[in-house]
Amino acid sequence: MFKKLKAHWKVNELNLLLIIATFALGGSLCGYAGRKILLLLNLEKGLAWILLYLLLITLLWPLCVILISIPLGQFSFFKKYLFKVWQKISGKRNRINIQKDIMNVAIFASGTGSNAQKIIASSFSGSNKSYRIALIVCNKPGAGVLQIAEKAGIPNLLIEKDRFYTGDNYLPELKRQSIDLIVLAGFLWKMPAPVISAFPKKIINIHPALLPKYGGKGMYGNKVHESVIANKEKESGITIHYVDELYDHGEIIFQAKCIVEENDTAETLAQKIHVLEHTHYPAVINDLAQKQNRS
Ligand code: GRF
Repeated sequence: MFKKLKAHWKVNELNLLLIIATFALGGSLCGYAGRKILLLLNLEKGLAWILLYLLLITLLWPLCVILISIPLGQFSFFKKYLFKVWQKISGKRNRINIQKDIMNVAIFASGTGSNAQKIIASSFSGSNKSYRIALIVCNKPGAGVLQIAEKAGIPNLLIEKDRFYTGDNYLPELKRQSIDLIVLAGFLWKMPAPVISAFPKKIINIHPALLPKYGGKGMYGNKVHESVIANKEKESGITIHYVDELYDHGEIIFQAKCIVEENDTAETLAQKIHVLEHTHYPAVINDLAQKQNRS
C-alpha cells in the first residue's frame, strides 16, 4: 500500500512518512478543536452535538492539515492535495472536460517539456481561448513535463510500452477526456496504427529541421543538428506536420527557417530552433483549433 501511495503522490519515503504524520496530526488537531468549540457552546451530548461535531471537523480539517504541514515541510503537497479535493467536490475538472465549445488537446511528451509549457501557457493566455490542454501523456517516469502538468493542474497519464503497442489500450482514456487533437512535443515512440486511425488528421508533430531532410528513425535531438552542421547547411528550421505511420513523414502544415552560421554548434542551433518552436507551435495549434471550432 505504501509503495502505491509513493508512486501515486510521486514522493520519496521520507516525504511519505511526513505526509502520513500530517494527516494523523491534522486529524487529531481538528478533532480536539471541534470538541473544544462544542464545550464552549455548552451543548449537551446528543444527536445535535454529533451532527455539529461532524460539521465542525469537516470544516476545520483542511485548516488543521495545512497548519501542521508547515512545520513538517509538506505545505506545497497539501496545498495541491486540497486543491484537487476541492476540484473533485465542486466537479470543476469534470465540467471543464465535457465542455465541447473549444478544442481538447492531449500533449504527448517525454522530455523536459519546454514546448508543452509554451503550449499550455498559450492555452491560458488571451481572452479568445481556442483550445485547452485536457491531458498530458508521458512515457518516462520523472520526466520534466510531468512536473509542468502537475503545476498547471492538468491530468497526466503515464503509459507503458507493451500496453501502448497492444490493441487500443489507451484509446478509451483519450475518448473519456474528449480529446480532439493529439500534439506530439518531444515524444519519441512511433504512434501505433489504432491510434492513428482513431485520430485521422488529428495528430501533429514538431520536428527540429526542415523535413523531408534530416527526418526518419533515430533523427531526434542533437543528432539532427549535428547532421545539419556536418552537411554545412546554410539554413535549418522547424516542421510541423500531420503524423502518419512513418517517422516524420505526414503532410506538412507549417515550416519556419533560421540561418545556420559557420560557428554554430549543435547546442547553439538547438537554441535557435527552440525559439522558433516556442513561437510557432502554439500558434499553429491555435489556428487548427479555430478552424475546428468554426466547423
Ligand atoms: C523539440 O526540439 C521538438 O522539435 C522535438 O523534441 C524536442 C522537444 O523539446 N520533437 P522539449 O522537451 O519540448 O523542450
